[in-house]
Amino acid sequence: MDILNRREWLKKSLIATGAMSSFSLAGFIEVNSSAEEVKCIENDNEVVRLLYNENHLGPSASVKKAMTDVMHRSNRYATFYKYDANALKQLIADQEGLSPKNILLGHGSFEPLIWAAIHFGSKGEEIIVPSPTFDVIGLFARKIGANITQVEVDSAFKMNLTDMESRVSASTSLLTICNPNNPTGTVIETEKLKSFCRLVSEKTTVLVDEAYIHFLPSWRKHTMASLINEGENVLVTRTFSKIFGLAGMRIGFMMGPEDLIKELESKFTLGFPGNMPNSISMAAAMTAIKDNTFLEKSRHENNKTRNLFYKELERLNLKYIPSEANFVYFDVTNFKSYKKLMNENKILLAGGWPTKPNWARVTMGTNSDINYLFDKMKGKKWL
Ligand SMILES: Cc1ncc(COP(=O)(O)O)c(C=O)c1O
Repeated sequence: MDILNRREWLKKSLIATGAMSSFSLAGFIEVNSSAEEVKCIENDNEVVRLLYNENHLGPSASVKKAMTDVMHRSNRYATFYKYDANALKQLIADQEGLSPKNILLGHGSFEPLIWAAIHFGSKGEEIIVPSPTFDVIGLFARKIGANITQVEVDSAFKMNLTDMESRVSASTSLLTICNPNNPTGTVIETEKLKSFCRLVSEKTTVLVDEAYIHFLPSWRKHTMASLINEGENVLVTRTFSKIFGLAGMRIGFMMGPEDLIKELESKFTLGFPGNMPNSISMAAAMTAIKDNTFLEKSRHENNKTRNLFYKELERLNLKYIPSEANFVYFDVTNFKSYKKLMNENKILLAGGWPTKPNWARVTMGTNSDINYLFDKMKGKKWL
């Protein structure tokens, strides 16, 4: 289907469901609906983006204002200013009950993850990672000569902590966890993960990637950041790319013990404050982190869409894993031909990871994105 036909399809289906009160072709789709305050913000109208686990609602209005308000100051490095690295670190530290010295900022969380891969993997050490997961560290560290041990998730698609712990040896420099995990969407029970981190961090550094933690309503109870104050050898990464709706701004951070954060910051940034994330992204992050209304709304919309998604999968008799994040992992039984069908319809999604070759991961996009996806899936043409 070409894009014009797709727009027609979307327009018709929105009229049919009574969801549309205004419609703009200029920016892909723009729905102002009293019933469904879900607005697609894309301008590139070539594809349906169900691939990167972005938040289609963001950035929030307050964040957009903060960004435009600092644009005029782009001639300056982001230092000695209300939106600079020190101010953002302080804000995060206050939220997490930590010191700014426990925080390292990065261009996305990707950057601190790569730094961790270099730091812990460049001397040929062993790094233990779960599988499947969003494995920046394993992929990068392998390139620079580290030995990567992948530990498969258990039969419930949860991280197999017992198996992971049993693999730790004297040559293990790092063990990584992703919670909630991408792509499975599963979480580890909080006390169980805390005990695991306490135990394993006696032997090696544990890094917990919490890119999706804010999708849990009481996320503060679930974060492993509190272990840092207990003196555990634990690193935690977070990002503004997911629920905060700021993927394009490239801003994220790592939290950890003061001496390790100091070592990483001095090694990878040379401590040069001008090379911290840019002023617009820091203004965005500092505003977003305080915007609880937007976080609530994002969680609420995500829950609604996820429930709709489950119902559709059940209707098609497809097996899925209940998710705690903004994506769902499901078994399409033949990912290769499923992906082909999706590509033909310009739907971007992920899947086909080696140990689960027929599972797909779909981001919870707008309702019309999801309806469009299932419209294409109904005929089960990929089976
Ligand atoms: C689990 C996880 N961690 C980290 C990232 C990196 O995100 P960013 O570099 O945008 O912070 C992603 C991106 O999809 C992710 O899924």
